Amino acid sequence: MAVNRALFDDVMVPNYAPSSVIPVKGEGSRVWDQENNEFIDFAGGIAVNCLGHCHPALVNALKEQADKLWHLSNVWTNEPALRLADKLVSSTFADKVYFANSGAESNEAALKLARRFALDKFGAEKSKIIAFNKGFHGRTFFTVTVGGQAAYSDGFGPKPGDIVHCDYNDLESFAALIDDNTCAVMLEPLQGEGGIISPTPEFIQGVRELCDKHNALLIFDEVQTGVGRTGTLYAYQGLGVTPDILTTAKALGGGFPIGAMITTTEIAKHLVIGTHGSTYGGNPLACAVAEAAFDTVNQTDVLEGVTAKEALFREGLEAINAKYDVFSEVRGKGLLLGAVLNEKYKGRARDFLNASSANGLMALVAGADVVRFTPSLVIPNEDIAEGLARFEKAVAAVVNG
Ligand SMILES: Cc1ncc(COP(=O)(O)O)c(C=O)c1O
Repeated sequence: MAVNRALFDDVMVPNYAPSSVIPVKGEGSRVWDQENNEFIDFAGGIAVNCLGHCHPALVNALKEQADKLWHLSNVWTNEPALRLADKLVSSTFADKVYFANSGAESNEAALKLARRFALDKFGAEKSKIIAFNKGFHGRTFFTVTVGGQAAYSDGFGPKPGDIVHCDYNDLESFAALIDDNTCAVMLEPLQGEGGIISPTPEFIQGVRELCDKHNALLIFDEVQTGVGRTGTLYAYQGLGVTPDILTTAKALGGGFPIGAMITTTEIAKHLVIGTHGSTYGGNPLACAVAEAAFDTVNQTDVLEGVTAKEALFREGLEAINAKYDVFSEVRGKGLLLGAVLNEKYKGRARDFLNASSANGLMALVAGADVVRFTPSLVIPNEDIAEGLARFEKAVAAVVNG
């Protein structure tokens, strides 16, 4: 049997359209395909591989745990889960942790908790959830409905109700929507999929104040921004605005599937025995790897390195732009960056992605107008330079048609 891209079309459900390249090996920020072609990885598995590929600390943690204990279910707890939860609690505003397996599941837990909290404390009327246009929170039916692109939740029958949206960074519209029947507000403290959009300080502070005024829980979806991505352990710590519930996944496991919802004791106590759960949530293998990832990222030199590497990316992208005039701006924070295509190249992000791949670079898009970069947080500076050189070739190829 030939294991190639054609096999994908034969045996896989057609909800994805992967590249024709099939990677088989990775080390740090370099990846090799079946033909041994080498790629620099500026995508990081979509902000997941925070320590690159096969980081020794993660490989060791996985191997060690693999020889000890793989799975128990929630009928028993386990040491890696307890250690990781303790670290999450000590490094954030939170007192309590719920483990899930993905970002969507972490958000699902957050939303259910918020609804239950409001029901218990204020009654059934308080069920409204406010979220933001272009926001992305996952693909379960609840989370995709809370997400800000109706196209993703249309066509699956009746949607979960009492969910409304307004524009990100539009405090006036938000103020007009929130009321005493609002139970929760969910947002990304830097919109990722929606195009790499940072919140303004007035917006994020205003949302916090209005949530407090109306007894609504503020949920930060840090699935993409969490675990060092923006240069602080969590983005909220750089914004100076603390949520009531925070979700984290992607980089939490450095490539091993895990997610978590973290919150305060006061809120957590409403998720009583039997109200929610997951067979794999808190799995020892996942938690052992995540503990190693968390320990490695949560170091001053790594977090400061993110900001230093951001500067290298910005300099390099600006130099490319000075030559080719393709971007209107580079936005984002830390190593969650978006090069926004100018009027001339609007809608062509995918062309830049394909040209990057042809030149040995893995990059991403965030919508049709933004080329997104979410590399390893410890990507060597030489790999940044080499990746940018390859990106310049890709830009030249698009510009020269
Ligand atoms: C902000 C945000 N929330 C949630 C998700 C969904 O995470 P998952 O795909 O692990 O369910 C994503 C994935 O891209 C995301 O970027």
